[in-house]
Amino acid sequence: MAVPLHTTGKASFDDIYDRPDPRDYYARMSDLDYRIPELAKPVFQQQIREYRASARVDTPTVLDLGCSYGVNAALLRLDATMSELAEHYSTAKDDRTALVAADRALLGTRDTLPDVRFLGMDASAPALAYARETGLLHDTVHADLESGEPTDEQRAILASADIVISTGCVGYVTEKTLARVATAHPRRRPWMAHFVLRMFDFMPIAAELAALGYRTERAPGLFEQRRFASAAEQTQVLNTLSANGIDTTDRETEGWLYAGLYLSRPLPKPHADTEDQH
Ligand SMILES: C[S@@+](CC[C@H](N)C(=O)[O-])C[C@H]1O[C@@H](n2cnc3c(N)ncnc32)[C@H](O)[C@@H]1O
Repeated sequence: MAVPLHTTGKASFDDIYDRPDPRDYYARMSDLDYRIPELAKPVFQQQIREYRASARVDTPTVLDLGCSYGVNAALLRLDATMSELAEHYSTAKDDRTALVAADRALLGTRDTLPDVRFLGMDASAPALAYARETGLLHDTVHADLESGEPTDEQRAILASADIVISTGCVGYVTEKTLARVATAHPRRRPWMAHFVLRMFDFMPIAAELAALGYRTERAPGLFEQRRFASAAEQTQVLNTLSANGIDTTDRETEGWLYAGLYLSRPLPKPHADTEDQH
C-alpha cells in the first residue's frame, strides 16, 4: 500500500498516533529504523546535567513536546534503546491493561532518573493517556497550541517546565506553539532542545524566541532520523531541501532523513529576580 504523504511531502503517520497503546507506533517506527529519540537521549541527559549544575533546581522538570506515548521519557527513564522498546512492545501480546501494568512494573524496577519530573504535551489524547497511566509521564497537556492559547490549567502545567525537549515534533508545531510554551510562566523561561528535520526552517522559531530573550545555537552535526518511507517521500523531500539551498549529497540522497539540533536558552537578565528561579 502506498504511504500517504502530508502536504509537506513527509510521510503521514497520523493513523498510528491515536491508538490506545504504542504497539503499532513502535512497530512502524522500527520498520523505518526511526532512531532520532535514541540519538537525542545523550543530548537530553547532558541538558539535564547542565541544568542541575547551574544550581537552579535539584529536581528539574522536563517537558516533551509531541511526546506521543511518552517515547523520550521511556528512553531516558528506562535507559532503553529504540530496538529494546520495539521488542518490548512487539512481544507484548496482552491487552492494554496488561501492557500498562507491565510498563508500570518495569518503571518500578528500572527508573534511572527518579529525580526528574517528566511532562508531555501532545495533540493525541489516547497517546497521553497511555503515557500517564504507565507513569512514564507525571503529568500531561492535551492541546494543539497551533490553534489556540492553553487553558489556565494547561498553562500552569507548562509553566512548571525547566527544560523543553522534542524529537519529530517541529514541523507539526511552529513558533506559535513554542512561544506559547515559552511564555506559560510570566517571567521564567525554560531551556529548550529541539531536534528538527532539515526540511523545516527553525529560523522563524529562533526569531520568536529571540524576541522573548533567548539565544539559539545550532549544535554541530546532523542526526539520522529514519529511513524514507517511500521513493515518493524521498523525491519530495529532496526537492524541498534543494529548493531551500541545502546540500543533500551523501545524506538524504542515501535514503535517510536528517535532523539538526537547536539549543535555546534565555539570556541572563541584568538583575535576575532569584525568587523566579523556582
Ligand atoms: C513523529 S511523532 C513524534 C513522537 C515522539 N516525539 C518520537 O520522537 O517518537 C509526532 C507527534 O506530534 C504530535 N502532534 C502533531 N501535531 C501536534 C500539535 N499541534 N501539538 C502537539 N503535538 C502534536 C503527534 O500526535 C505525534 O505524537
